[in-house]
Amino acid sequence: MDQLVSLSEDTLRRIAEAQSLETLEEIRVEVLGRKGKLAAAGKDMAKLPAAEKAEAGKLLNQTKQLLESEFESRKVKFEREELALKLESEWLDLTLPAPGIRPGHLHPITQIQSEIEQLFVSLGFAVLDGPEVETERNNFDALNIPGDHPARDMQDTFWLDGGLLLRTHTSPVQVRGMQKLGPPLRMIAPGRVFRNEEVDASHEHTFYQLEGMMIDRDVSIAHLIYFMKTLLSAVFGREVTVRLRPGYFPFVEPGFELDIQCLICGGLGCPVCKQSGWVELLPCGLVHPSVLRMSGIDPEQWGGFAFGLGLTRLVMMRYGIDDIRWLQSGDLRFMRQF
Ligand code: FA5
Repeated sequence: MDQLVSLSEDTLRRIAEAQSLETLEEIRVEVLGRKGKLAAAGKDMAKLPAAEKAEAGKLLNQTKQLLESEFESRKVKFEREELALKLESEWLDLTLPAPGIRPGHLHPITQIQSEIEQLFVSLGFAVLDGPEVETERNNFDALNIPGDHPARDMQDTFWLDGGLLLRTHTSPVQVRGMQKLGPPLRMIAPGRVFRNEEVDASHEHTFYQLEGMMIDRDVSIAHLIYFMKTLLSAVFGREVTVRLRPGYFPFVEPGFELDIQCLICGGLGCPVCKQSGWVELLPCGLVHPSVLRMSGIDPEQWGGFAFGLGLTRLVMMRYGIDDIRWLQSGDLRFMRQF
């Protein structure tokens, strides 16, 4: 009976100290289980003389009931605590207003494209559109690049069936503009172009250009430079350092490459400018007489300039984007910055 009393006291203390349901269950099995300590005590009792048996049996039953009810109430307490924790962690205020749909916005290329469109519309230019699948004639021949001309190699072309191709530049829209509208002509043509390029930090296989053309009487290089400077200061909102160097395109004569000092590295050299400090952005020139003639315009009467802005690269320069692949990555973490 002394043993029973001390087992009871010991177990009550352990129940009170138990920190988890698992520990509690271990103690319960150890004491009240089929092979537990109370069951063992019951077996020992059988050996007692009959006179003591009744009293010991009573104590055994009392101890059993006491411990069972202690286990139970401690278990309920644990379960309540666990539930309270769960409810707290899963708490949800159903009366809060719904967050609503997060508004989207235009892609940075589209944003700058619209800005440039507005600028040129204000200068009296029309905004023209042309197809992405072009004829070989509009993309090359009518621009003074016949089939055997080495300039074709400069634009690695995706050919389609039936002599069609994915346009390699926006210049075929010049041809469409000259033929459809005739002189005098002021037009720009933004759009997507395609080349079979080795993709790197500054080259994509699918990118955007913005073509421009002005045909009128007595158009000179001075006009060309004026419009290019107006364009760049509108886009960058400040003076940018540019350089003009001779550039070769069969559809202009003379032809130029207008480069801007790399705005990613400030001209020191980086992967975007291929360590040169300059980024090729705006090839341009005076429209070649043969190109005018092929589109039915008399070069004795009319002249003009044309340019082919690398719109995707311009966006990179304006926002300091150091890899062209970000722009078509579809990564919203990147896109939401603009
Ligand atoms: C042309 O495509 C000519 N049609 C431009 C032109 C128009 C010249 C009118 C004269 C008169 P070019 O291949 O250099 O030229 O490309 C023009 C611009 O597009 C480049 O300056 C560059 O900014 C951009 N560009 C060219 N290739 C890529 C590319 N793979 N990825 C991104 N941008 C490119």
